[in-house]
Amino acid sequence: MTTEPAIIPQPPAFYKDALAIGTVKLASRFNLAPLAGYTNLPFRLSIRELGGVGLCTTDLVNARAIVDGLQKTMMLLATSPAERPLFVQIFGSKAHEMVGAAKWLVERGLADGIDINMGCPVRKVVKTGGGSSMMCDTTGATVDLVRQVVEAVQVPVSVKMRLGWDDDNLSAPYFAREFEKVGVTAVTIHGRTREQGFAGGVNHDGIRRVVEAVEKIPVFGNGDVRSVADAARMISDTGCHGIAIGRGALANPWVFRQFDSWVRTGDPGPRGTYAERLAFMRLHLRRLVEWKGSEKYGCVHFRKVATWYTKALRFPKKVQQRLVMLSGLTEFEEIIAPFASGPAPDGWTEYDTQQAQIAVPAGPISHW
Ligand SMILES: Cc1cc2nc3c(=O)[nH]c(=O)nc-3n(C[C@H](O)[C@H](O)[C@H](O)COP(=O)(O)O)c2cc1C
Repeated sequence: MTTEPAIIPQPPAFYKDALAIGTVKLASRFNLAPLAGYTNLPFRLSIRELGGVGLCTTDLVNARAIVDGLQKTMMLLATSPAERPLFVQIFGSKAHEMVGAAKWLVERGLADGIDINMGCPVRKVVKTGGGSSMMCDTTGATVDLVRQVVEAVQVPVSVKMRLGWDDDNLSAPYFAREFEKVGVTAVTIHGRTREQGFAGGVNHDGIRRVVEAVEKIPVFGNGDVRSVADAARMISDTGCHGIAIGRGALANPWVFRQFDSWVRTGDPGPRGTYAERLAFMRLHLRRLVEWKGSEKYGCVHFRKVATWYTKALRFPKKVQQRLVMLSGLTEFEEIIAPFASGPAPDGWTEYDTQQAQIAVPAGPISHW
């Protein structure tokens, strides 16, 4: 569990400087890492409004499904002018499908950049030769696929990867260098191997090697960053140019605003208040309903995230049990009415700080 130390570390001076991925200027050096099933339009829009976000990327999207125009896939691509810049993350192992998908997205103005997924360890993706299995290729096919995508579109192309397949195959520095040579404009590196899943610590040395392997492009360190102390360690240990935050943003949507304030002023500023958390939860739900185009399905989607709100707000167990079965907006208002007007429970802020690590449900996806 991560706790803030009494003394807030000093931010590195260069973090105040502006950063860009190719032609895309970032408002901060703190990006949202994609979390399939969570980092959809409703969540992205809502965290953006809290401030401090550099870049958002969609959940990973199957390249072939984009070209085939599958309805479910179109939902994943939903965006709005309020959430620019936005990169769309695609995965696949066939160059012509990846190129086709990238062009399709750019022609429709749906992506300011394309992010290629090379980190996904789930069997469904890996067995097709996509995701992290691309990091095992020694024939040059992976670099060639990435080159073809870069050459096919006028927008920046980035890559998100793990350190490698396992400890004996830490291929990320090699790939980062080769990708830069073929025109990739940024790399995000989750400091674990495929073999590791989510177990064990994040290997900061491994991330540093990737930072050292490239010449000019920014490298975003990723993994287990949930507090200013974590961010300070990630930067000082690795020299990374920015940080991508995934689960920490679910636990604390204000994390970007705090990190950005920290690098600009030395002070992370306030967390979200209890009332702001409640308001954020309500907005998130309403946007899920709009996005799904159905009150019922929006509420069903909300059930997945109800537990983190329950923990963060310290709702009683009974309330959690009702929220994870939610089926309508009126019901939601009834459930939260007793909390909406009252003050925050005693010690709420402190509890929230301690609870920065709200777990994402386990299951096959826990091995991303
Ligand atoms: C539920 C879940 C879904 C994920 N989905 C994606 C994804 O679609 N694309 C991707 O590149 N990484 C995905 N990841 C990996 C995260 O982007 C990130 O690399 C990882 O969670 C470590 O960062 P964190 O500790 O800040 O969460 C996922 C992780 C989780 C837990």
